[in-house]
Amino acid sequence: MSRKRIAVLVSGSGSNLQALIDSAKEGYFDADIVLVISNNSNAFGLERAKKANIVSKVVSLSDFESREIYDKELIKVINEHDIDLVVLAGYMLICSEAFVDGFYGRLINLHPSLLPSFAGADGIGDALNYGAKITGVTVHFVDKGCDTGPVIMQEAIEIKEGESKENLAEKIHKIEHKLLPKAVKYFVEGKLKLEGRKVSVF
Ligand code: GAR
Repeated sequence: MSRKRIAVLVSGSGSNLQALIDSAKEGYFDADIVLVISNNSNAFGLERAKKANIVSKVVSLSDFESREIYDKELIKVINEHDIDLVVLAGYMLICSEAFVDGFYGRLINLHPSLLPSFAGADGIGDALNYGAKITGVTVHFVDKGCDTGPVIMQEAIEIKEGESKENLAEKIHKIEHKLLPKAVKYFVEGKLKLEGRKVSVF
């Protein structure tokens, strides 16, 4: 069986991309990160890709007339690279229906809260402002909603009294850096079974 090929989409720092690059390098999963795409030309994730000799591409929403046309370009680029799995790792745009249709079941997203709580762009800040005592990290298959897809894995963490957003974010990232590679490993090994909303790991 040939090694699986992974594309990672990022919008910013890309610390989770780095966790995936390091995991692939260490042989934690039997797959290669072969493509990194960003909607943001200033994303540090692009530097990380360059350093790891991974092909990277900037696809800016502002260069396209509509979201649908932008996503068509994304689909084209991903298909040109013969990709088995698309990972959204801090990719801050919502995918169009065509994008989700094109990759359903092999498109996963990382989110910094225990979904369905605190979906959206600021999962960490929203949990803090709400006064939640527990939050966490979710890895899920992407469906047509915003952060609503079938959950692959979750890990909870306690929010301490008076905890700062920076401190909580640091703890969340630490969890993300092990949970996302684990979900990718299970996907690559064919251990994830998706049936309706339910994902079983076997
Ligand atoms: C991560 O915390 C990820 O969960 C979050 O963006 C951060 C990216 O960090 N994603 C979302 O909020 C998606 N809605 P990174 O660029 O250092 O990997």
